[in-house]
Order: sequence, then structure tokens, then C-alpha cells
Amino acid sequence: MNVLILGSGGREHAMAWKIAQSKLLDKLFIAPGNAGTKEVGTNLDINQTDFEAVKKAVLENDIKLVIVGPEDPLVKGVHDFFLNDNELKEIPVIGPQKYAAQLEGSKEFAKEFMFRHNIPTAAYESFSEENLEAGLKFLETVSPPYVLKADGLAAGKGVVILEDLQEAKEELTEMLANKKFGEASNKVVIEEFLTGIELSCFVLTDGKSYVTLPSAKDYKRIGEGDKGLNTGGMGAVSPVPFLTDELMEKIETQVIKPTINGFQKDNIPYVGFVFIGLIYDKGEIKVIEYNCRMGDPETEVVIPRIESDFLELLIAAGNKELHTKTIELKKDSACTVMLVSGGYPEAYEKGKEILGVDSVEKSIPFHAGTKIEDGKLVTNGGRVIAITSYGSDFKDALKTSYKSIEKICFNGMNFRTDIGFDL
Ligand code: AMP
Ligand code: GLY
Repeated sequence: MNVLILGSGGREHAMAWKIAQSKLLDKLFIAPGNAGTKEVGTNLDINQTDFEAVKKAVLENDIKLVIVGPEDPLVKGVHDFFLNDNELKEIPVIGPQKYAAQLEGSKEFAKEFMFRHNIPTAAYESFSEENLEAGLKFLETVSPPYVLKADGLAAGKGVVILEDLQEAKEELTEMLANKKFGEASNKVVIEEFLTGIELSCFVLTDGKSYVTLPSAKDYKRIGEGDKGLNTGGMGAVSPVPFLTDELMEKIETQVIKPTINGFQKDNIPYVGFVFIGLIYDKGEIKVIEYNCRMGDPETEVVIPRIESDFLELLIAAGNKELHTKTIELKKDSACTVMLVSGGYPEAYEKGKEILGVDSVEKSIPFHAGTKIEDGKLVTNGGRVIAITSYGSDFKDALKTSYKSIEKICFNGMNFRTDIGFDL
């Protein structure tokens, strides 16, 4: 079978790396991909949200399965585009349709879904410009810190947490009246502040059945000790060491099953990944967010821990036969450390030559922002390469990643030396 992956990050390289090992694969294509995906498949120079270009590539290359990496094409309706096209409608797409992708694309949609299905989450109220005054009054009734969330996708910047009431009121006004995040802040969800430690669970579902993928914890801040600006993710570990069987069972019963059952009760078709961001405190678990795709860099630790044929699972999901499959995992832990460009997550330069990647033997370098230019491997994004390693536990795995990183360099290279510090 010929397969197409949409996307160009470390997540997509990790998926491509695993799918390339499947006996069920004929040819693998990645659009647009990066210098790493090029090693395990064929990169196609097309924009992942140019659906007509995707269609042309699918037909030209006899693609029989499409896996959507990032949320953008899903929220813009790539799956619906396939279903509405006579030549594409039989080709399974892994990733939900536009309506269900609102689980990620609209905070309000996700909150309503959780409340409808009794899934534990923070209390909230939702406001639009018309009831800004009510929103400002509401802020006076809740205790700080104030959690303000732009309803729509805001490139990871839409969640603002403030201690001061006046600042919170100004922020709410900025978002609603002054359209701080454009259309994404047409509505704002004000949420109860939750304390605890965050972790993520992932499931692959066909809308009725599901398989639970390995858990992971990512490190979003740029600075050591979780300080500084938010990034796409600076590293991750899997499994999450404090996630006991008992806690996992609680997550299955209180969150995963009600989520999948919720899709059925609401008549929402859902084929793809559900990324469930959780917060754990004093034995209780609450959902912080849903994403309609895998996490990045979580995928760079989740996928390497899957023993089963990943493509076989994806095909089963696409054919709505996931109930016939189980998933086998590796015993080893995995970690990943992201190498990023100097300046990231603020302004940074691209095109820096990357040296030493080929000499890494004990880790798997998953490329994120890389490309080949004049025969050289160069940086092409803020997050450049994720260095994944296995180990008997996450500390052991981390030692290997940090050893491998010593062999790699590029101008401005930065990374966190404290992944897993809080575990
Ligand atoms: P989200 O985009 O909803 O995942 O929010 C981004 C980040 O903000 C999360 O990963 C949390 O660290 C933090 N956050 C979101 N909601 C809350 C909340 N209700 N209480 C505390 N922290 C939160
Ligand atoms: N690492 C967080 C995300 O993929 O959204």
C-alpha cells in the first residue's frame, strides 16, 4: 500500500520512520516533509493545506491511506474534502473531520463536549464581545490566578494566565473587543485554575473502538526549570513514571471511554488520534485540553515505544476495524530532547549548517526544522531535531540523548539540559 503523511515536523518524521518499517508498506510519501523524512520516503513539495495539490499527489501516486500530522489541515477540513470528492472518498484519512476537529479548534466546543459527557475538567464560563461586561463582572467573582483562553487556534499563544484582576480584565477586553488573536478570540473561555502535574494520553480511534498509545509528558517552556516563554515543546519522556496502573485505569474510565462513547452519543464520526492533555493532583485527574492529532515532541517518544506494526493499526482505524487489533509496547522507556535554533521561540535565523547528525549511533535523530541546501543539512525552523533514546528508565534514556547531543552542533544551537527534572 502507498501511504501519504501530511506535515513536516519531528512528529511526521517519527511516524514516517515507523511506517517505513511495516511489511504492509509499498511506497511512503511525506508532504512537504523535511530532510529526515527524505531518508525514509519521498518528500512531495506541496503545501499541506492546498487540498487540490494534495488530491493531485494522491491520485498521481496511487495513495491508499492519508495520515494527517498537524491540526491545521484537519481544522480546515481536509478529511471532509476527501469525503466530498468522488475520486477520493474511498481513501481513508487518519484525522477527524472538521466538525470533530473543533475539539481542538474551539475551546468552547471542547468544554461543552466534556460537560455533556461528564468528563472531569475545570469549571468555566464562555464570553463573546456582546457580553464583555458580564465577562468583566464574572472575573470579579472568581479567585486568581485567572485563566483566559481564546476559543480558536492561536498558534499556541491563546492561553493567558494572570494573577492580577485588573490585568485579567484588560486582557479579556484586548481579546474580545480588540481582537487580540483575530477571529480566534471572538469568544473567550474563562476557566478555573487547576494545580497539579501535567501529562498526556493518546488514543487511536475509529470512532467506536480505540487503542491506547503510550503516555508522555512534554516540556513546553524554553528555559530550565520550566521558566520562560512557551514553545512547541522542548523534550518529552514516555512512559510517565508516576502514571500507575491504578491511575491509568481511572483515566480510561473517567476520560477515555466517556470520550469515545461521547462521539457515538453525539453522532460524531471520528477516525484518528485524540491527544488528551491532563492534570493530576491529589489522586484526581482533569482534562485540560483535547487535540485532534498527536503531540510534537510527544510522538517522538510515543511511536518508538510501539512494538506493533503501526501501519496495520492505522489501516484498521481507517477501515473502522480497530476492535480486531491490540497494541504491543516495548518495555523500554524513551526520552527526546529537542535541539532548537538560537532565539527560538522568538525571532531566529534559518539556514545554519548542522554537523554531526550522521555520527549519532545510540539515539534516533528525528528531524523537525531541517532541509538539504546545496547538499548540506541546514536548519529550517525553530525546532530543529529531536534526539530520541531508549533506556531502562527515563533517566537512563536521557543520559544517552545528552551523550548523542555532544556530537551535534549548529550555530546558535540551544536545548534544555533538565528534561524530566520534575519527575
Ligand atoms: P491549553 O492550550 O488549553 O492546553 O493550555 C496551555 C497550557 O496552559 C496548559 O498546558 C497548561 O499548562 C496551562 N493551563 C491551561 N488551562 C489551565 C487551567 N485551567 N489551570 C491551570 N493551567 C492551565
Ligand atoms: N507538545 C504539545 C503539542 O503538540 O501540542
